[in-house]
Amino acid sequence: MPQHKDRRSSKSQLSVWTIVFFHSVIILQLTQINAGESLTNSQYRMFAVIGQTQDIILPCKLDHSLDVVDEMVEWSRSDLNPRFVHVWRSGEDHLVGQNPSYKNRTSVSTEKLKTGDVSLKITKVRLSDEGTYRCFIPGRKADFSVELVVGRWTNSICCYC
Ligand SMILES: *[C@@H]1O[C@H](CO)[C@@H](O)[C@H](O)[C@H]1NC(C)=O
Repeated sequence: MPQHKDRRSSKSQLSVWTIVFFHSVIILQLTQINAGESLTNSQYRMFAVIGQTQDIILPCKLDHSLDVVDEMVEWSRSDLNPRFVHVWRSGEDHLVGQNPSYKNRTSVSTEKLKTGDVSLKITKVRLSDEGTYRCFIPGRKADFSVELVVGRWTNSICCYC
């Protein structure tokens, strides 16, 4: 009896994994700790799973809907050299010092910047994108941290084969 039960539960688990697999990138927002005044959340952890499409948006938004299009916005990872993932300055991308592994893969939205939302879009997510990202708006002393964890579903599916 217990064995039968086990098999049923692992089977339903497998179909869940399969459904999830056909979605490209699954993003789970796990933790959300409120702290700090300038930004809505000071710490954030996200999970991305590599599948077919592979875009992710790292959230970072000011508490108030302030237009920050003309301000400087820095996305960086302190474990990288150069550490810059994306820099927005004087109303446009400023990618001179960008880490080469993010070339052509990052963007911020001008429309969103007008409302204080400086979220970063990363396309073609790679395993090496895993890390802690800092979202920094020097003019507002706004500092925000987003941890990105990247995995592959193939590994998980394998465990159920
Ligand atoms: C980035 O895009 C430019 C222009 O489309 C292209 O010439 C360049 O090869 C691309 N670089 C990478 C690393 O994909």
